[in-house]
Amino acid sequence: MTSHRPAAVIIMAAGQGTRMKSATPKVLHEIGGRSLVEHAVVTARALAPDYLVVVVGTGRELVEAHLAEIDPDVRTAVQEQQLGTGDAVRVGLTAAPGISGAVVVTSGDVPLLQAETLHELVAEHDKSGNAVTVLTARVPDPTGYGRIIPGEGGSVAGIVEHKDASPEQRQIDEINAGIYVFDAETLRDGLSRITTDNAQGELYLTDVLAIAKGDGKRVGAYVTEDAMQTEGVNDRVQLATLRAELNRRTLDTHMRAGVTVVDPDTTWVDQTVQLEQDVTLLPNTQLHGATTVASGATIGPDTTLTDVQVGEGATIIRCHGSGSVIGANASVGPFAYLRPGTALGANAKIGTFVETKNTSIADGAKVPHLTYAGDATIGEGANIGAGTIFANYDGVNKWPTTIGRHSFVGSNTVIVAPRTVADGAYIAAGTALTEDVEPGEIAVARGKQRNIAGWVARKRAGTKTAKAAAEATKDGAQSDTGEKAQREAGS
Ligand code: UD1
Ligand code: MG
Repeated sequence: MTSHRPAAVIIMAAGQGTRMKSATPKVLHEIGGRSLVEHAVVTARALAPDYLVVVVGTGRELVEAHLAEIDPDVRTAVQEQQLGTGDAVRVGLTAAPGISGAVVVTSGDVPLLQAETLHELVAEHDKSGNAVTVLTARVPDPTGYGRIIPGEGGSVAGIVEHKDASPEQRQIDEINAGIYVFDAETLRDGLSRITTDNAQGELYLTDVLAIAKGDGKRVGAYVTEDAMQTEGVNDRVQLATLRAELNRRTLDTHMRAGVTVVDPDTTWVDQTVQLEQDVTLLPNTQLHGATTVASGATIGPDTTLTDVQVGEGATIIRCHGSGSVIGANASVGPFAYLRPGTALGANAKIGTFVETKNTSIADGAKVPHLTYAGDATIGEGANIGAGTIFANYDGVNKWPTTIGRHSFVGSNTVIVAPRTVADGAYIAAGTALTEDVEPGEIAVARGKQRNIAGWVARKRAGTKTAKAAAEATKDGAQSDTGEKAQREAGS
């Protein structure tokens, strides 16, 4: 695949993107978990060029910062004024001085373009010995695009922009995708000769083709059958259309690789997500970022995971999670909120209405209901009762809590951190825990129960409650004591 390495790829991304009507530069808008320009960079990288140059202009500080994050080896070239695509490429070449050989030019707003298609374009360019090869597509509605003017013997005579085209030329349905391979010398020479003598008063890159042709050089087209790959984003309607198409393609790839997607229309999976065979995605599932899901796991319905690693056979139902690791055969949800730093062991459980943050729950441990666990380390096989709160924040600092192996925390416990509960310890239900607990101990910290006989009859006379009490004690205090004695004997 790398036998056709170009000397440079230049990605044009300096344009305004006026029709996006956004404070964010157009190429930073996202689909499928990547910015538009990141899609272009990832695709260009696959060609392994000596230079990868992005031409920036509008919002350049933001775009440059983003590029430094996603691919620090990208060079940027600043186009101060957007004088046209010809000017953009001229600026781009200054970041790849003195190169010879093939120069690929693409756009920062064509996110569905596949590396495979670029490889084919470059291979075609090399094979045919062209000075310029342009990627084209035949489309039902070519309005707005540059049209391919045919030359003799299947060659290209030039490209005419829609605004400059005659009515006859506008009938041509083969369009310029805006993606090209140029011989470096031909490109430099052509760019030095283009003018603004056209309908838009811009320096058109496309004019280089007719100049090369006029010099007797070979100019050709490579037609792709998959026109969607050449579609650009100009407004947010196209952004949504291409997002849906990209998602559809991503899901198709996963399904062909053995993933069950019950409802592709409501399932969104970023390009960066990895799914193993026999994963099942239920409706309304969104998987983002560096999320990975191992074989046999079931995600959804109604689940959003960002940067979450899910182990083999795990089940995650109605969950919002990020920055977490879920062990093999573990179970999460329904209705769980996993915040960054959550680590759930194998066969462990985070249940219903549970929020976790920076908390590790070892193998086989369970946090089944109505709990907040923050900054906690929960040992193997421990059980955290319903309604337990790890009070990790004192208003100034965050403090940790450790719960030992096979320890048992009773329901409605509040653990005032920092706290250590040893292996094999108990905490009684309703405890406000302010002291550490040693192995084998049970900690009890709650008011002692006091029952006041006859209170209902005295204080709530005439109520249904009082009536029920009277009915229940019809035979007087005797049956009451009798029941109590029975209870005590039975337990
Ligand atoms: C361009 C082509 C057209 C083709 C279409 C495909 C030209 C003259 N026309 O038209 O034949 O059918 O793409 O989508 O090239 N840019 C800069 N600096 C500039 C101007 C543009 O960096 O000064 C960038 C834009 O950010 C964009 C790309 O170049 O990424 C294309 O520019 P755009 O204005 O969208 O060109 P089109 O009119 O669509
Ligand atoms: Mg465009």
